[in-house]
Amino acid sequence: MMKCILFILITVSLTFSTVPSCHKKETNNSSSHLSYYFDNREIDYINENNININEIIPYVEFESFNVYNFYEYENLRKEKNYTYIQTLNRINYPNFYKKYVSVKPAIFTNSFLTLVNKGHYVDSSFIPNDIIALKNTNITYIKRENEIMQANKTILENYSLLEQAAKKENFNLYVFSAYRSFDKQRYIYYDINNCNDETVARPGFSEHQLGLSLDISTLEYGLTNYLKDSEEYNWLIKNAHKYGFILRYPQGKEEYTGYAYEPWHFRYVGKDVASFIYENNLTLEEYIYDYLEIK
Ligand code: DAL
Ligand code: ZN
Repeated sequence: MMKCILFILITVSLTFSTVPSCHKKETNNSSSHLSYYFDNREIDYINENNININEIIPYVEFESFNVYNFYEYENLRKEKNYTYIQTLNRINYPNFYKKYVSVKPAIFTNSFLTLVNKGHYVDSSFIPNDIIALKNTNITYIKRENEIMQANKTILENYSLLEQAAKKENFNLYVFSAYRSFDKQRYIYYDINNCNDETVARPGFSEHQLGLSLDISTLEYGLTNYLKDSEEYNWLIKNAHKYGFILRYPQGKEEYTGYAYEPWHFRYVGKDVASFIYENNLTLEEYIYDYLEIK
C-alpha cells in the first residue's frame, strides 16, 4: 500500500515538476520556466539570443551545461551527430586526450572509475582507502624482499575469483605489481626506467597509485610482450571483464591511453563497465569521454 502511494506521489510530482516537457504550448521562454534552471543573467542571455527553450531542455539535466556556450554545443552536436554527453565533454574538456599538457586532478575520484592518466593526476600524498596486503589473501603473487604488495580490497576479492577460474583451466597467474606509492613510482620512472614516457607513468600520474591496477602474468613470460602469445593471456583478455577488469593499455589505442601496449596491466572498473568496455572495444578514456558527464 505504502509503495503504491509513493508511486502515485512520485508520478504526480514528476508530472508537475517537469514543467517544460509537459506543457509544450507554453514553451515561449517565460521566466517562470527558466528560473527553475537559470539565474537572471542567464535568462537575459537566453532571451536576448532568442534561444528556444525546447532546445535547451535536453541539456538542463547536466550540471556541466553552460548556457553561454549553447550555440557552440549545438553546432558541434549537430555537425558530428554527437550525444549530449559527448558534446558537453568535448566543448568543456577539449584537452581531455592531451598528454602532460594542461593536466588536471583525477576525475571520478574515490570510485572504481577514477581516471588517472597523462592528463589527470593524484597528489603525492594520495594513499587509497581500503588497501590490504596480498599476503592476507589466497592470491598468488611475486614475493620480493622488503616489499609488502597491496591493492584495493574489492579488486582483490574479484581477482581472487579470476585467479581460481584461471586455475581450473590449468593457468597459473601471478600478480607482479599492484599498489605503488608516489615515491615508488618516482623511483620506477626516474631510476629504473630513465624517464621512459612510453611505458611508465610519471609519479602522480600512475593508476597504480590508486590501488586499482594489477600487473598480471605468468612466471614464464613476466612483464614482457611475449605474454601476448600465451594461452593464459588469451584466456585473460576474454574473461577478465567477468570479474570487473579491463586490459588498460591495449594495442592500437595508444593515442587515447598515452601508453604503449601492455598485455599485463589490468584495471578494475567493476563488472558492468568492464563488460561494456570489452564488448565495445573501448579504453577507459573513451568510455568516460563518450558516456559519462565530466563535471
Ligand atoms: N606502466 C604504467 C603506465 C604505469 O607506470 O602506471
Ligand atoms: Zn601496470
